[in-house]
Amino acid sequence: MTLEGKVAIVTGGNSGIGKAIVLELAAQGASVVVDYVSHPEATEALEQQLAALGDDKVIGVEADVSKVADLQRLIDKSVEAFGRVDIMVNNAGVETRTDVLSTTEEQYDFVMNVNLKSAFFGTQIAAKQMIAQGDGGAIITISSVHEDWPMPGNTAYCLSKGGAKMLTRTAGQELGPHGIRMINVGPGAVATPINAATMADPEKMKTLDTAIPLGRMAQPEEIAGVVAFLASDAGAYLNATTVFVDGGLMHSSPGL
Ligand code: BGC
Repeated sequence: MTLEGKVAIVTGGNSGIGKAIVLELAAQGASVVVDYVSHPEATEALEQQLAALGDDKVIGVEADVSKVADLQRLIDKSVEAFGRVDIMVNNAGVETRTDVLSTTEEQYDFVMNVNLKSAFFGTQIAAKQMIAQGDGGAIITISSVHEDWPMPGNTAYCLSKGGAKMLTRTAGQELGPHGIRMINVGPGAVATPINAATMADPEKMKTLDTAIPLGRMAQPEEIAGVVAFLASDAGAYLNATTVFVDGGLMHSSPGL
């Protein structure tokens, strides 16, 4: 598997799963555009980490992917710096852990815009660039087991991931004829900042670990390896589908 000569964009790329994806794609030889919206120092540290490994094909771009103009600027920067875009990773994601009765309009818009609107327009703008280049590409959206599996108390999040499922299913039909593959990666519970509250609570961790057949949360690198595989020629026949990377969580039956 190699991504030598490929150019990738990773949204939300300076922390959590996004950061692990940046490191893995770079390790496989890709040039990488790291999108971020906060903590510029984390992006700089990531660039320095890669530079220390002799990798100078990484740039950070500050862009709020919930805004279409920022997404356009992100893709333009990739073309400006590296001449093209081959791999778009719609990774940026947030959750409010609120239920249908308590979610405010502001929380709803925040979750839907960061998770779903960004993936929709990120796909649209990246696909236009790939079509102009004429030799296809891969658009990978980091979804969740919750694109299928209800999570009471996190309703807008589930809605956004359900939308991401249908984005990939539908746009995969539309873009396949251009050689553009649309794939969702659906992680289960991963040790990243989004799960900080759970990780700080031993009781919650025990319940979670018991529910996961592999008995533990995933490390971000275990998601990133799958993304790199899917982006490479080894994943050339995957389109319009989801690959779940959840240690069996979604189909587990704890206590039965
Ligand atoms: C959510 C986490 C949750 C995990 C497993 C993820 O998509 O972001 O909060 O722990 O799914 O339920």
